[in-house]
Amino acid sequence: MQSEFSQAVILVRRYVEQLARLGVRDFYIPRDALVVRKRGKAKEFEEMAEALKDCTRCGLSRSRTQVVFGTGNPGTDLVFVGEAPGYDEDVQGEPFVGRAGQLLTRMIAAMGLSRKQVYICNVIKCRPPENRDPLPEEIACCEPFLLKQLEIIRPKVIVALGRFAVQSLLRDMTPITRQRGRWRDYHGIRLMPTFHPSYLLRNPAAKREAWLDLQEVMRELGLPLPEKKT
Ligand code: URA
Repeated sequence: MQSEFSQAVILVRRYVEQLARLGVRDFYIPRDALVVRKRGKAKEFEEMAEALKDCTRCGLSRSRTQVVFGTGNPGTDLVFVGEAPGYDEDVQGEPFVGRAGQLLTRMIAAMGLSRKQVYICNVIKCRPPENRDPLPEEIACCEPFLLKQLEIIRPKVIVALGRFAVQSLLRDMTPITRQRGRWRDYHGIRLMPTFHPSYLLRNPAAKREAWLDLQEVMRELGLPLPEKKT
């Protein structure tokens, strides 16, 4: 990703490799170099997660096991937003850890990234009973906290996963099949709608389109694209 931070990391790595080629083996790196921005964000996130962990703003608090705040790197340029925690996420307290989550992890890996390099969260932080669609009042209660997370992260790109996330974030009920692959704006951040990994598990043929959407995101972030097979 081509944030100033990533560019600095690339330059430092090149410089260190050059020194290593010249035979230098020991390097001194001041302990607080480079991580200050991220540390500040991590602390804000910890405080926010702590404040939300006993949230009772909506009825989902009565049936959930725990609030699923989000996971990953608050210093990232790329955020994935899904719908709401399911059974596995509610038990483990982390978004996208079930079967759909495993596919999302592979999609992120195909982009040359890891879950630790991006941020993953949902429109809704508590599991709706029987995995029903979240209600408008539940979205209204929870969305301000998603916005606050995004304000802290300030990513370059959001990937909205699936019909529910896309339609509720954009307030646009156009079917996902017509929204996917087209850049949109969400509070000043570029948003790419694409299919939800659960949908892709049921409709593997749609993976090709989802991959096109992710490549568009890679282009936007300056990530190296895989070479085309001839
Ligand atoms: N589906 C979602 O939308 N989010 C999760 O965290 C898991 C499954």
